[in-house]
Amino acid sequence: MAAARYSAEFGKIGIIGMGYVGLTLAAALARRGFSVYGVDTQPRVLESLAAGKPHIFEPGIDEVYQGLTGKTLFAGAELPAHGVDVAILCVSTPVQMDTHTPYLENLRKAAQHVAQRCDPGTLVVVRSTVPVGASRAIVLPVLEAAWGEGNVRLVMAPERTIQGQALRELEELPQVVGGLNQESLEAGLAFFGKLAKQLVPVSELETAELVKLANNCHTDLIYSFGNEIAMLAERWQLDPLEVIRATNLNYPRPDLAKPGYVGGGCLSKDPYILISAARSVGYEPFLVSQARALNEHLPVHVAEQVVRMIREGRGSAEGATLAVLGWAYKGWPPTDDMRGTPIADMMPIFRAAGLQVRGHDYLVSAGVIQEYGGIPMSVEEAFAGADAVLVITNHPEYAKLELHSLLPKLKRPGLVFDSWRILDGKAVQAAGLRYAGLGYQPQIEPELVS
Ligand SMILES: NC(=O)c1ccc[n+]([C@@H]2O[C@H](COP(=O)([O-])OP(=O)(O)OC[C@H]3O[C@@H](n4cnc5c(N)ncnc54)[C@H](O)[C@@H]3O)[C@@H](O)[C@H]2O)c1
Repeated sequence: MAAARYSAEFGKIGIIGMGYVGLTLAAALARRGFSVYGVDTQPRVLESLAAGKPHIFEPGIDEVYQGLTGKTLFAGAELPAHGVDVAILCVSTPVQMDTHTPYLENLRKAAQHVAQRCDPGTLVVVRSTVPVGASRAIVLPVLEAAWGEGNVRLVMAPERTIQGQALRELEELPQVVGGLNQESLEAGLAFFGKLAKQLVPVSELETAELVKLANNCHTDLIYSFGNEIAMLAERWQLDPLEVIRATNLNYPRPDLAKPGYVGGGCLSKDPYILISAARSVGYEPFLVSQARALNEHLPVHVAEQVVRMIREGRGSAEGATLAVLGWAYKGWPPTDDMRGTPIADMMPIFRAAGLQVRGHDYLVSAGVIQEYGGIPMSVEEAFAGADAVLVITNHPEYAKLELHSLLPKLKRPGLVFDSWRILDGKAVQAAGLRYAGLGYQPQIEPELVS
């Protein structure tokens, strides 16, 4: 093994890819006193960072960028000429729309940039979610070609934070680190020990890669089972939440998840990354594909149910007005992230049925709602004269809506489809409106209608 030449100081950090992951990690490291150099290829990202304004919403990061930009936080199209002590690859690793296979050119290009600007003293960290084997097959050869075999310090340390709580979780979540060799692993642990409270060293780069994919595919699978129960309950006209509550209550075996949409940049692609990696070693996953298929079917199913219920109510859906509350992929923790949002799969069904779709979200901009085909407006405006309301996310503000003043604004017969069951369903029914949720379509109880 080559002699240890890495800096134990880790004063200068380079982050390649200043999207959600790079942006939040840069903020967390800058807060800890590191000098952080963010690199991105998109001029729009660089312009906003140069002005000290993150282009992505995440609680707590605005303050860090306002306070530290130009002091210890920098952004540019390239790493500093004399390199950095640690280079962290946070670039996007999407799957291709048509084939669902991972696209890894961003990772290769980011590694090439590090190889050009830095020297073998640099600790290179793969942070992006990658297929098992990609750190060794894509990143390592690029670094070895520039620095020589045996001169590379490389670790894989996956990002596992949840959007909305990233700054806290970057410090509190156990940090998994796999190294190319012992020297790399020790450098990786020494570096992440300055940020995270708990470190989980694992024996291979590939172990760390699989840990990340296993975490996300497991989440997808667990949520899909709650959705399976909802689809079953709907057929038997049962209340899925009642089934799930009774299933879990004081039962000392694993809990069922509540039904819900499963989206986001990661859960909508990572199962495909694992499936593709598994196929490359001759294994066809049973569960991972089915869980993803079910979770992707849910928004389509809900959109079809909403259209059907509108038709039942007013004879035709053509020309009806639907108010959609919550356009981001999730409401809690709040985010403006549209990746894997359920509305993307719902809109073609609404459009085909001739619905006019109004849109509201507390964080998603009016321009983005328009891009997806909605007419942006306030909650009050969205309710006024609408035939139906579809609440897609569980943003906590929707749970506080003043139903007594909003419900009378809906046209009769009206529908409130409350995906997460955060509204007072009895109040909706008492106002003479049809109430429904995921897997839940009760008949109106006549005695409730005043
Ligand atoms: N968003 C999450 O919550 C999350 C959580 C865990 C892991 N991840 C993983 O982390 C990685 C990054 O995710 P993200 O959400 O930040 O993606 P993102 O799309 O928000 O950001 C990626 C950034 O990388 C930049 N980029 C692409 N190629 C580049 C290159 N060659 N050089 C410099 N910059 C380049 C893009 O312009 C973009 O700004 C992905 O692999 C993702 O799966 C994301």
